[in-house]
Amino acid sequence: MPQPVEAVLVGAGNRGREAYGFYALRYPYRLKFVAVAEPIAERREQFAKEHNIPPERQFASWEDLYAKGQLAPALVNATMDRDHVASTLPALELGYHVLLEKPMAATPHDCVRLVRAAEKADRILQIGHVLRYTPFFTAVREVVQSGRLGDVMTVEHKENVVYWHMAHSFVRGNWRNSKIASPMILTKSCHDLDILSWVLGSRCLRVASFGHLTLFRSDRVGPEIPERCMDGCPIADQCPFYAPRLYLTDDTSWPVSTISLDTSLEARMKALQEGPYGRCVYRCDNDVVDHQIVTMEFENDVTVTFTMHGHSYKEGRTMRYDGSMGTLRGNMAENEIAVYDHLTGREDIIRPGDVVGGHGGGDTGLINSFVAAVRNPNRGVLSSARDSLQSHLIAFAAEEARLTGTVVDMGEYAQRIEAEVIAGQT
Ligand SMILES: NC(=O)c1ccc[n+]([C@@H]2O[C@H](COP(=O)([O-])OP(=O)(O)OC[C@H]3O[C@@H](n4cnc5c(N)ncnc54)[C@H](O)[C@@H]3O)[C@@H](O)[C@H]2O)c1
Repeated sequence: MPQPVEAVLVGAGNRGREAYGFYALRYPYRLKFVAVAEPIAERREQFAKEHNIPPERQFASWEDLYAKGQLAPALVNATMDRDHVASTLPALELGYHVLLEKPMAATPHDCVRLVRAAEKADRILQIGHVLRYTPFFTAVREVVQSGRLGDVMTVEHKENVVYWHMAHSFVRGNWRNSKIASPMILTKSCHDLDILSWVLGSRCLRVASFGHLTLFRSDRVGPEIPERCMDGCPIADQCPFYAPRLYLTDDTSWPVSTISLDTSLEARMKALQEGPYGRCVYRCDNDVVDHQIVTMEFENDVTVTFTMHGHSYKEGRTMRYDGSMGTLRGNMAENEIAVYDHLTGREDIIRPGDVVGGHGGGDTGLINSFVAAVRNPNRGVLSSARDSLQSHLIAFAAEEARLTGTVVDMGEYAQRIEAEVIAGQT
């Protein structure tokens, strides 16, 4: 049996522990964490304990870790969005192959900088675009690329974020505010913009977008509504976002595990009384949209509409591809792809196989691919930083289009950003 690939972890938060850490525990012959950098002592110690990392390999920051030089061939970076660039550039320089969470950076210029740095250092820089590694989207892509649909004319793709996930992550949580994280079209939907480009296998030419923060605003409730759900909220029984109903449940897996490392009932009550997840959804410092559409023109006249919204009854992506010879309808949550043949009137149902792990098996596929590429860098990865750049730029362009009411030409946009980076203007 081959030796596991050794890696260091930067950021032992939710993804660091539950996606990457749990993978290494499940597949110890593939990946082994030999060092951890995490400023929150409780998280650092827990990760170190789970992975048998000795005290001299536990660090309070990526700066302290990097001061020791390169400790392993690979590095997994699961810090928050705005830390990605500062923590990745020195890692590449030290010689680490890096698996970096999405979004790769919070500005288009920083995305370009990362791609250039990885190519200069000749290191793998793989982005956490998990959907490319799911059996579901692999099957969708196979159908589209096989020509069964003829020429694809038009695509509708929806990211239906369930109402409580919207409240958890984008109203109360880490991605609520574009100044702390990034616009939601980047943080949540760079996955979708990426998968659209990958399935179609072509480039996006022009982008327009509309969207608003309509529900989670202070002007939606009166002054009688308290700052926190547990401060005697008079509409607790009618409010779908009432925090005790969402977090004081028997199931303590994500998202409940996010609110407190100690998941006992007492610790969770305390977290709701004091922490961000007990806040009234109408009284938070959030500014990201709760619904947005992006309309895009791809090469070969293909028109695409993408809708992202946080008001769904159920989490899941749905999509429809209409071509000259057939129609594909997909529902990721149902794991069902229907392919209708215009000539015969026959419809085939495809149910791609299941893979263990989060994001419909995408987490497992992503890390498998990283491990294989570190063992043999000639293999490459499906979501290199260069591959991921296009979708990140579409997201930034969509936000510019939404805020300015303009149509953005992607060729001109990408050229402008690249030129500004080279000229050192940002
Ligand atoms: N691929 C996906 O589908 C997916 C899903 C969810 C989140 N994400 C991304 O994963 C990343 C992490 O998200 P999360 O929910 O785990 O966030 P988190 O806040 O739970 O974890 C980030 C961790 O980084 C640590 N950190 C801060 N400064 C540090 C430093 N100087 N050195 C080392 N560590 C430091 C924080 O203390 C924290 O524990 C984000 O970029 C997020 O967008 C990706």
